[in-house]
Amino acid sequence: MDSDKDRTQTPIIFAPETYQYDKYELNESQLSKDPIDQFSKWFQEAKDDPRETLPEAITFCSAELPSGKVSSRVLLFKELDHRGFTIYSNWGTSGKAHDIATNPHAGMNFFWKDMQRQVRVEGNTEFVNRETSERYFKTRPRGSKIGAWASEQSHVIKDRQELDEATKKNTARFEGVEDVPCPPYWGGLRIVPMKIEFWQGRLNRLHDRFVYERASENDPWEIFRLSP
Ligand SMILES: Cc1cc2nc3c(=O)[nH]c(=O)nc-3n(C[C@H](O)[C@H](O)[C@H](O)COP(=O)(O)O)c2cc1C
Repeated sequence: MDSDKDRTQTPIIFAPETYQYDKYELNESQLSKDPIDQFSKWFQEAKDDPRETLPEAITFCSAELPSGKVSSRVLLFKELDHRGFTIYSNWGTSGKAHDIATNPHAGMNFFWKDMQRQVRVEGNTEFVNRETSERYFKTRPRGSKIGAWASEQSHVIKDRQELDEATKKNTARFEGVEDVPCPPYWGGLRIVPMKIEFWQGRLNRLHDRFVYERASENDPWEIFRLSP
């Protein structure tokens, strides 16, 4: 273990200026019975707020087993259905692909700064079917479709040129092909939630927190208020 001296350092950054959370409240009478309905309502409110420029940006957390090492990255949340919350990525080479292959549990965190709200989603993951992945892939601009073929996401590359060459090669490969196909390793992963927390910032850090929990997909949701 480090000595006490090592653990007591002069901070480089110390207590950045912060602010009060005083815009909204969340109480029992406002909550929907179903967390998917509650999420839809909050997501729509975030979409409608012009200051929330990217409400679908999430932090996605995964953990490799058996080491238990956790990693997180920003992704874009793309779909909600009655089973859960879907993101799209490369499941061949990325770090998250490796983590999910060893441990299907994952978390997704939304932070809507201007609404002073956070939503935490935790659960088991499953890959969406091919048809669902292809439906979303079709909505991407052609350049992003080619990018999905060109990038071995999270593999080490020598330089930018290597990526540019892979892009050129794949641009040529799909020349004249109107519909660039979805790569076999690329697609959607859904978190089937077992826990969804809605957090509304309140004055003096006395926030409103409600968590919906269920033991399995076949169990009903229970709702608890949590201490801030
Ligand atoms: C705003 C933003 C949106 C992103 N959206 C995605 C996405 O939807 N899918 C994706 O695979 N990576 C996305 N990324 C890149 C990831 O943060 C990350 O670099 C990549 O997924 C590789 O991470 P991994 O090796 O840990 O899996 C996004 C990054 C940012 C900053």
